Amino acid sequence: MDVIEAINKRRAYRSLDQIEITDELIKEMAQAAQLAPSCFNNQPWRLIFVRAPEKLEKMKPALSSGNEWVYQASLIIVVMSRREDDCLIGDREYHHFDCGLAAAFLILRATELGLVAHPIAGFSPKKVRAILGIPEDYHLHTLIIVGRKAETISPFLSEKQIAWEKERPERLPFDKFVFIDQFPTSC
Ligand SMILES: Cc1cc2nc3c(=O)[nH]c(=O)nc-3n(C[C@H](O)[C@H](O)[C@H](O)COP(=O)(O)O)c2cc1C
Repeated sequence: MDVIEAINKRRAYRSLDQIEITDELIKEMAQAAQLAPSCFNNQPWRLIFVRAPEKLEKMKPALSSGNEWVYQASLIIVVMSRREDDCLIGDREYHHFDCGLAAAFLILRATELGLVAHPIAGFSPKKVRAILGIPEDYHLHTLIIVGRKAETISPFLSEKQIAWEKERPERLPFDKFVFIDQFPTSC
């Protein structure tokens, strides 16, 4: 699959079927994250692959309302980092940016493997930290929810989420975010 094909194919679907999470599959996704660029090659990302059914069950109370569809996840990947493990340049703390890059690489590889890999912010970092024993100094960026796209719509979805299963949410037109040579005066 070409990169552009993976970019086009990737969707944050919420209707998921369960799949087996093998060590090989985890390795494939981890390798994609491993090759992401990072400031000074600091590689600040740390990933927990949560696949044990009893651990996935424990994660349920950590999900925000509206994310009940995650109950069908086969795998939840916690993406985290510490600020001191990456470049600190003035007010720029690069661990956020670099974890975003690593997550994007991982998500595209999962897409290429025929999976859904859906990042979410709707969770309680405090609860996830307690469930998985994550130290306080790690910043939890996202949970990536992995499964296979189901043919049938998840019963947990709202009307809006059902619409998003069928059609990709609208994107900003180029004139709102692509600027040539200088920042526009009317923005
Ligand atoms: C940082 C981040 C947080 C997100 N949080 C949630 C979430 O909590 N729940 C959810 O259902 N989707 C969440 N999403 C998915 C977005 O809603 C989705 O990517 C967006 O609507 C565009 O749809 P598409 O990815 O299918 O193109 C999140 C995506 C990102 C990148």
